[in-house]
Amino acid sequence: MRTMIRRVRNILLSLISKVSPDPYLVAELWRKQGVKIGTGTCVYRDVVLSDTNGLIQIGNNCVLTGCAVIAHDASTNKMLGLKYGEPSPSQIVTIEDDCFIGYHAIILMGVKIGKGSIVGAGSVVTRDVPSDSVVSGNPAKVICTVAELVEKRIQLIKSHPEIFPAGIEKLTAL
Ligand SMILES: CC(C)(COP(=O)(O)OP(=O)(O)OC[C@H]1O[C@@H](n2cnc3c(N)ncnc32)[C@H](O)[C@@H]1OP(=O)(O)O)[C@@H](O)C(=O)NCCC(=O)NCCS
Repeated sequence: MRTMIRRVRNILLSLISKVSPDPYLVAELWRKQGVKIGTGTCVYRDVVLSDTNGLIQIGNNCVLTGCAVIAHDASTNKMLGLKYGEPSPSQIVTIEDDCFIGYHAIILMGVKIGKGSIVGAGSVVTRDVPSDSVVSGNPAKVICTVAELVEKRIQLIKSHPEIFPAGIEKLTAL
C-alpha cells in the first residue's frame, strides 16, 4: 500500500514538474521524488531524469536545461534474460557543483561531470568530464576550458555588444 501511495505521489509530482516554469520548484519536486539535488540548482521542466532512487546525484548551483540524464541501460535486457520493466544494469551519474548542462544533451550511465564544467547543446556524454572543462559533440569531447570560453565570450561581447541587448554594463566580469 505504501509503495502504491509513493508511486501515485511521484506521478503527481512528476506531472507538476513537467508544467512548472520555475526551475527551482522543478528541482524541489525532483528532490521530493528522491533525486539528490544540491541547493541553488535549476532544473528546467523538460529535463528527463531516469532514476529517483539515488542513482542520479546533482550538486549545488547547477543548471540543467532540457537534457536527459540516463542512469540505466535496458538495451541488452532481452539477451540477458530480463523483461522490459525489470531492473536493468545501472550506474550512478554524478553532476558536481556549478555545472551547466546544455539543451538536449544526453548523459549516459556511469558518467561523472566534474565541478564547474559546461556540456554543449546536443552532446552525448559517454565518458567522465574533467572539472572546469567545456565539452561538446557526440561523443562529447573537451573543446576548451571554462576560463577560455569565458574570455572568448567577453571578447565577442566587447566587439559585438548587440549580441547582449540587456547592456554591457550588466556584466560584472568585464
Ligand atoms: C559548447 C558551447 C558552450 C561552446 O561555445 P563556443 O566555444 O562559443 O562555440 P563555438 O561556436 O566557438 O564552437 C567551438 C567549436 O566547438 C564546436 N561546437 C560548439 N558547440 C557545439 C555543440 N553543442 N555540439 C557540437 N559541437 C559544438 C563548434 O563546431 C566549433 O568547432 P570547430 O572549432 O571545429 O569549428 C556552446 O556551443 C553551447 O552548446 N552552449 C550551450 C547552449 C545551450 O544549450 N543553451 C540552453 C539554453 S540557455
